[in-house]
Amino acid sequence: MQIDKNVEDDGVIFMSIKEGTEGNETGADATGNADASKDNGDVTILAIESSCDETAAAVVRNGREVLSNIISSQIALHTVYGGVVPEIASRKHVEKINGCVKAALSEAGLTLDDIDAVAVTYGPGLVGALLVGVSEAKAIAFATGKPLVGVHHIEGHISANFIENKELEPPFVCLVVSGGHSHLVVVKDYGEYEIIGQTRDDAAGEAFDKVARAIGLGYPGGPKIDKAAREGNPEAFSFPQAKIPDAEYDFSFSGLKSAVLNIINQAKMQGQELSQADVAASFQKAVVEVLTGHAIKACKEYGYDKLAIAGGVASNTALRERMEKECAANNIRFYRPSPVLCTDNAAMIGAAAYYEYKKGVRFGLDMNAVPNLPLGDRERRFHGGRV
Ligand code: KG4
Ligand code: ZN
Repeated sequence: MQIDKNVEDDGVIFMSIKEGTEGNETGADATGNADASKDNGDVTILAIESSCDETAAAVVRNGREVLSNIISSQIALHTVYGGVVPEIASRKHVEKINGCVKAALSEAGLTLDDIDAVAVTYGPGLVGALLVGVSEAKAIAFATGKPLVGVHHIEGHISANFIENKELEPPFVCLVVSGGHSHLVVVKDYGEYEIIGQTRDDAAGEAFDKVARAIGLGYPGGPKIDKAAREGNPEAFSFPQAKIPDAEYDFSFSGLKSAVLNIINQAKMQGQELSQADVAASFQKAVVEVLTGHAIKACKEYGYDKLAIAGGVASNTALRERMEKECAANNIRFYRPSPVLCTDNAAMIGAAAYYEYKKGVRFGLDMNAVPNLPLGDRERRFHGGRV
């Protein structure tokens, strides 16, 4: 995985991610141009993602081959506010989206003529941010007459696992942990999900972000706690790991977050200085243990020997290490996307869209952004989708 980065004048980071360095790995020929021939049954999808603070476009062939993957990250712009400001995110998406789509096509060596379908995240996410991607995708579909495929953001995260693991096929268990979601899911088939556990309160990423703010690490919390924890003692504090009596696969992180806040307040009152690194490491350990414990238990009890992780928190170093170890000890094959494919990107949307496209899913131009779109329960009739 090679990442070319460029910080633009407005602070936005423009990234082009290349899978491997060999031309043929990306489907490109010796001139760098992808073979766009249509009669070989290949499906080439232009995918767009703008649900939060990353504007992204990618070209993906047959769901697993990434011809280009462009991410324009606004993280630096939101850092001064301590979190994502939805209005700023929407405005930046408007400024960046055309450039991202153009770059994605040009890096793939293709034009819109070579694309079989346009895919876009239509939920869940920030409504103003989603609308930018949805409008862009609809405009392209209308102008070119190409089919339009709406993708659920979390299905995208799960599908990121297909990109680097060409052999991975459902069924498998997937732990989806992002800024807005913590779901334990059985991926029964492509696009078919059974949710067996979810958070009762904060999402795992949200807990990372809130704790990071409380201990003065700032935004974005996840990567900062990940880094700080490497210098800390995970046994310094014993934080609670919530168990939900009537739903053993559900999560709850609000008690853990409160426990961290209590320790910080206590230390303040007693005039003691707390080690950021120790709090970060102990908090992270508590989260990682719960996530890993639930996921392994689900595999064993439901009888699956493949476990994948997905979403921004899946890039956490401690979680990846612990999962790897526990999976090995329990004879479970462990799948995880590269960190840059765990956080928001459009390649994962192109991967998910391929399987929807193959099933015949087509959305009408009345597609709308659905900020609280539930996983595995897409009410296509409300936004013009047909199966
Ligand atoms: O999937 P994502 O990029 O966006 C959403 O769909 O929410 O996830 C973002 C979340 C944030 O809460 C961020 O703090 C967290 O993922 N995150 C991490 C790490 N990198 C990102 N959490 C823990 N460790 C990390 N290394
Ligand atoms: Zn996401």
